[in-house]
Amino acid sequence: MQAEPFQGLHRKAVEAMTTNETSFFRDFHPFEALKKFVLPDLLALRSAERTLNIWCAASSSGQEPYSLGMLIRENFPQLLSWKLRILATDLSTEVLARAREGRYSQLEVNRGLPANLLVKYFQKQGCDWYLRDEIRRMVDFQIVNLSNAWPALPPVDIVMIRNVLIYFGIETKKEILAKVRRVLKPDGYLFLGGAETTFSIDESFERVQFERATCYRIRRT
Ligand SMILES: C[S@@+](CC[C@H](N)C(=O)[O-])C[C@H]1O[C@@H](n2cnc3c(N)ncnc32)[C@H](O)[C@@H]1O
Repeated sequence: MQAEPFQGLHRKAVEAMTTNETSFFRDFHPFEALKKFVLPDLLALRSAERTLNIWCAASSSGQEPYSLGMLIRENFPQLLSWKLRILATDLSTEVLARAREGRYSQLEVNRGLPANLLVKYFQKQGCDWYLRDEIRRMVDFQIVNLSNAWPALPPVDIVMIRNVLIYFGIETKKEILAKVRRVLKPDGYLFLGGAETTFSIDESFERVQFERATCYRIRRT
């Protein structure tokens, strides 16, 4: 039998080299932009088809997609009757298992999560906090290595690839952004981490500023 190229020791070595650092509502401003501008825009644009696809690539232990889930439930409950898919992917089987479990330490819930959302959407058991099913069920987790071939994805309205491009060399960044361009809808939105940009890497994206948040859209020629 032929060995899979990315298993066992190799996978563990790669996982050990990457940092899983994340937090709820990380950097705050992108989530404000989603709430005030991006989701209202998409809600209007997709009102006929009532379908919205969001992809959090490199989602680590789940705080990012679950923040989106809480933001949607709090501010856009009408989306819950749409065909809404929040797909969250990562390279690491370990963080994905943690994310699916939805269990967070006191330290983790102290970082970025507003107290009202903690009380409303988490349940304390022992020292840990468990995310309630109503949010956990909103997110599908899958393993995807961004630098390998990607699985077939439906056209995506919002892509969040935050704080992961920094680990790649320029050629891999170019390949990943070219693949994002293919999965992102022409009027969709791309969010990167605060230290990441498409500038000088892929000029088919243009930068869009929403108050203190930056996101990227496919340039219209
Ligand atoms: C610093 S965390 C960022 C988490 C989250 N996006 C955020 O901004 O808070 C980086 C994540 O990227 C994942 N990662 C690293 N290389 C990857 C790759 N080639 N494909 C998919 N995920 C990768 C790591 O496993 C880790 O969970």
